[in-house]
Amino acid sequence: MDKYEDLVPLINNKLNVNYGSIGKRSSEYLSRGGFPYGINEAEFNFVKDQIIEHGLRSGFDFATGIGMSVLAMGMGMQATGGTAMSIDCYAEEVFQDLQPKLSVRKVRGGGIKQQEINQQLLELFNLQDIVTLYNGWSPQDCGPMMESVEYIDVVFLDGPKNAASFLETLSYLKPKLADKYLMLVHDTHCFKSDFIHLVRTELNAEAEFKLGTKYPLGVINALN
Ligand SMILES: C[S@@+](CC[C@H](N)C(=O)[O-])C[C@H]1O[C@@H](n2cnc3c(N)ncnc32)[C@H](O)[C@@H]1O
Repeated sequence: MDKYEDLVPLINNKLNVNYGSIGKRSSEYLSRGGFPYGINEAEFNFVKDQIIEHGLRSGFDFATGIGMSVLAMGMGMQATGGTAMSIDCYAEEVFQDLQPKLSVRKVRGGGIKQQEINQQLLELFNLQDIVTLYNGWSPQDCGPMMESVEYIDVVFLDGPKNAASFLETLSYLKPKLADKYLMLVHDTHCFKSDFIHLVRTELNAEAEFKLGTKYPLGVINALN
């Protein structure tokens, strides 16, 4: 089982979940492809294949959402012998809030149902000992969460959608980044020029854009 298109029928048949009942966003996912996707097939395969190709072993995924990016990361780690962690406050799923406001940011413990479904998804692929899911907020819960790992060498970001939240994310990530790492950033079209600038100034690297023209995946390849 290694391609996204094979995953969809398997998940739909084995995981007894009515994604349409979870909330507005999942219904939208459903109407777009018959399956609730957070990332597309090319991105899914890219995350997994890059981890395997470069032998990466410690992953951070922000945010879990409906679990697709961390599923890809977990499958990669299954091959390399690594582990991954993923965090979400489930603001989109629970509060229907795409960019959680400060008032919402105080609420804790939402999204337990979605997290349980994500946990079942991981168990379906025998990834429960490889991936750890956290229910919490970036940035405040991420520092403590990262104390359990020595370093991070692969990052998938699908939480930050503007310069401020990307910068906030880098503030706790930078101290943990390995000398060689790969950082993938979803939805960079939301803040593309700021993204290019911040990658230069904060990471001393050059951003590349892959896998499409409308919503290209931002790639920071610091593996060499
Ligand atoms: C586009 S979805 C992630 C989709 C996911 N990558 C997948 O493959 O299913 C974005 C998620 O970011 C979460 N999020 C946004 N801001 C957050 C924050 N400050 N802390 C924690 N989670 C956040 C939302 O609740 C939402 O679930």
